Amino acid sequence: MQICHTIDEIRVTRRRARRDGKSLGLVPTMGALHEGHLSLVRMAKAQCDLVAASIFVNPLQFGPNEDLAKYPRNFERDRELLEKEGVDLIFVPSVQEMYPAGAVTYVTVEGLGDKLCGRSRPGHFRGVTTLVSKLFNLVEPDRAFFGQKDAAQSTIIRRMVRDLNIPVQIVVCPIVREPDGLAMSSRNAYLDAQQRKSALALYRSLMEVQERFDQGERKVHALIEAGKQSCARVPSLRLDYFEIVDLETLEPVDDFSRGALVAVAAFVGNARLIDNIVLGPA
Ligand code: PAF
Repeated sequence: MQICHTIDEIRVTRRRARRDGKSLGLVPTMGALHEGHLSLVRMAKAQCDLVAASIFVNPLQFGPNEDLAKYPRNFERDRELLEKEGVDLIFVPSVQEMYPAGAVTYVTVEGLGDKLCGRSRPGHFRGVTTLVSKLFNLVEPDRAFFGQKDAAQSTIIRRMVRDLNIPVQIVVCPIVREPDGLAMSSRNAYLDAQQRKSALALYRSLMEVQERFDQGERKVHALIEAGKQSCARVPSLRLDYFEIVDLETLEPVDDFSRGALVAVAAFVGNARLIDNIVLGPA
């Protein structure tokens, strides 16, 4: 497994792979890898000749009072996990390498970047799309793999790729959950035992909505209310949003004719957790 730290290294490596006619899959990550990330790697391996993973805690997608400084970092462990999965290449650039002094160019997906997490985390999606577009320019993957847990992120990246004609296919892989249903997240590492129990409320609220939907409830406001009430049963949980939105526009929906994303975000202690389900067309 090759490890590239610089832009020059990754470009040379990419050129070599292209010469050999190999297809390349990219799994962008911020490290602190868990089974969710590894499921992306396995999907990439199944679909591409070569697999690259990037590890970069992207300062541009963190707000001033967020967890950039304490975001979990353990390169040795991540490296071992990726090696075990048979990843061919890790790109692990420094902040300086990705954002040299004077960098003032950003990629913004207008009208989507301020929805869901973008509303409570201003600039977050601009940070994601700027970084991901740079990764696409550097690694030139044929396919790139993202998790459905960050559903809005996937929607926004798809739109960016379409609008900017970036020649990469975006593959979105299912959420990987702990046995009790909690969505896997690097931020779960922040939770103590009590908070870990509280965190399950996100999944429970989504299941409550799923159940009512399965029983025939189609009133969007009633489903949102049920989800919110389910969260409210855990007083230590601070709800950020509980929304039902269109999968493409991220705008609130009135009905389920095109299917819909049910998305929840909440703080448990200082950990901001997100989860979602998709409800199919009626
Ligand atoms: O989903 C993530 O871990 C990050 O937002 C990503 C896509 C790696 C960009 O930093």
